[in-house]
Amino acid sequence: MAGVRKIAVLGAGNIGGTLAQRLAESDLANDVVLIDIIDGLPQGKALDIQESAPVIGFSTRMTGSTDLAAVAGADIVVETAGLARKPGMSRSDLLEKNAAIVGGHAEAVRLHAPQAVVIVVTNPVDVMTYWFRARSRLPAAHVFGESGTLDTARFRWFVAEALRVAPRDVTGFVLGTHGDTMVPILSLTSVAGVPLGRLLPADKIAAIVERTKKGGGEIVELLKMGSAYYAPSATQAELVRAVALNERRLLPVTANLDGEYGLKDLCLGVPVILGRSGVERIVEVELSPDESTAFRASADAVRSDLQILAALPTAPGVR
Ligand code: 2OP
Repeated sequence: MAGVRKIAVLGAGNIGGTLAQRLAESDLANDVVLIDIIDGLPQGKALDIQESAPVIGFSTRMTGSTDLAAVAGADIVVETAGLARKPGMSRSDLLEKNAAIVGGHAEAVRLHAPQAVVIVVTNPVDVMTYWFRARSRLPAAHVFGESGTLDTARFRWFVAEALRVAPRDVTGFVLGTHGDTMVPILSLTSVAGVPLGRLLPADKIAAIVERTKKGGGEIVELLKMGSAYYAPSATQAELVRAVALNERRLLPVTANLDGEYGLKDLCLGVPVILGRSGVERIVEVELSPDESTAFRASADAVRSDLQILAALPTAPGVR
């Protein structure tokens, strides 16, 4: 049974297309609309996914459009549009071009789907989440970004691989920015409740932390043509599901901070309770002194990107 009536996916690239397939197959909505500027791409991918329905057995109605007004009535919008990294680029290198795309989409959502909960994926995601919220003027709880869930999935996999245990038994949180200064929280990482420090030596844990921080870059270097999309779309679908089914999951997302963790006026990865109204609550966990220092460095990195954004002629009003 469908959780919500309509989900709109902005951007029909590798992430948008793969996410649309995952959403269709999960029957989370009656309608999934895929929207992209390139005529034929969203329509073609939507029809292709739709034609798999008799075999896979889902009921979702798929459509594709080049018209942003097709977001109308969406309960959930996922913003995936924008350029992806190529080898040698940081996520911040995408800032100016992606801000222009995301800003336009935010205005369309304000106009046609002001009731929507919005999940931002476009990089640099911490800044784009802030920007989407500023331009759409949607309630802060209704706009959040996907970062920690993806970084945490990578971290969990590397731990599971090192210990040769079931990946789903590994739990943890990667907080802070979706960039080199992200912060895997070792004090909250365990395997079925057993603290990680009792299972792996410090040097192995340190290597996993480093690999996690560069997890997106590792895929970019391998693919050479763009960035990851299987793990990202899986974690985005996890977020959509939490909202659509009002699951009240405790997950790390890029949330609008208003004093939590001593920070204001920026979006950063923190644990939240996620439900039908988006970020239902920001959960403040105690961090070790080292983790706190790393978390603050993460916030500084996002602030410096926000300053670059504020200086763009297309971004008036950003602090
Ligand atoms: C990644 O980390 C796309 O930023 C995304 O793979």
